[in-house]
Amino acid sequence: MIMINSETNFVKIIKEICKEEGIEWTTFSGDWIFRLQKDGAYRYIIGYQFGLNPCSVHALCCDKGAASEVMTSLGVPNVPHYYFMSPDEQHYIGKYGNWKAMEELLETYGALVLKPNEGTGGNLVFCVRNQYELEQAAFRIFKSYPALAVSPFYEIEQEYRVILLNGEKKLVYSKRRPYVVGDGESSVGMLLQKQSAGLSGIMTDIACDAGRKARMEELSAAVQNTVPKKGDVFYLSWKHNLGKGACAVLEEPDADMEQIRGIISVLSEQMGLKFASVDLIRCTEGIKVLEINSGVMMEYFSGQDENTYRIAKEIYREAVRLSFLA
Ligand SMILES: Nc1ncnc2c1ncn2[C@@H]1O[C@H](COP(=O)(O)OP(=O)(O)O)[C@@H](O)[C@H]1O
Ligand SMILES: [Mg+2]
Repeated sequence: MIMINSETNFVKIIKEICKEEGIEWTTFSGDWIFRLQKDGAYRYIIGYQFGLNPCSVHALCCDKGAASEVMTSLGVPNVPHYYFMSPDEQHYIGKYGNWKAMEELLETYGALVLKPNEGTGGNLVFCVRNQYELEQAAFRIFKSYPALAVSPFYEIEQEYRVILLNGEKKLVYSKRRPYVVGDGESSVGMLLQKQSAGLSGIMTDIACDAGRKARMEELSAAVQNTVPKKGDVFYLSWKHNLGKGACAVLEEPDADMEQIRGIISVLSEQMGLKFASVDLIRCTEGIKVLEINSGVMMEYFSGQDENTYRIAKEIYREAVRLSFLA
């Protein structure tokens, strides 16, 4: 079955841009594919791909393990992603298999993050702290994916997203995870219930509207029953994906911007990225690139409010214009 894309902000934005720029368009596959036509030239948008990145660079970004290796070789600080292939692909792994190396990483770092090597949206991303959790996470990922990536777990002080276009940073925002603020009596579950019932005073205790997406059933019973102390901020997720309830805060982090600009210029010039979103974290070891998405998905960002919609639209407009120059 083809998923219908028509309702998304993305499709709405691309159609608006086409009208405003005098571009004819045809869509295919439930609006997941756009063919744009102007002055006899044809361009295609497939998913969130505008055809601006070379094919090999796109493939590199999709492969978290490979991207991490290449960034290290370019001197770009990054969250290491160690690549492991599913036992179904045993002939590539050789007789040593995966477990020993994974166990060694767990022993070295104490806490790891396991994720599909080519995953997105924070899905099947697990934090593991013991052998049992490690095996369970690997098993779950290998059921759906041929390879996974293992990273040390970092306590993230701040996570940023930067949209890079044609050698420049077009947008920088930090991601705020959904949270509740304790009143010293209510459990996390109760605080969330009060919030969704719209009781006064509680609404502001959730980071932003997007935080409501962090649904209660996604939280374990232990978390729901926790009673945060009065005034304590209790985060509902350790992941920073906007699709999992985090929200975008539009502010340039002055202290980190110089380093971020340097990283963006290396990624543009030495990795060959033309249009991408780059996720970076600040942890005790400083700034590190977490991942590079060669498809620029701004669905949740553009849906946050009128301002973010406008910002996303102008970035996509520039990408469309650039694609016709290529
Ligand atoms: N090594 C890590 N340490 C701490 N948090 C992490 C780590 N890797 C991922 N995360 C958290 O999980 C989220 C999703 O991970 P990410 O690598 O971006 O996968 P995806 O491509 O599925 O979004 C990140 O936004 C981040 O908040
Ligand atoms: Mg991500």
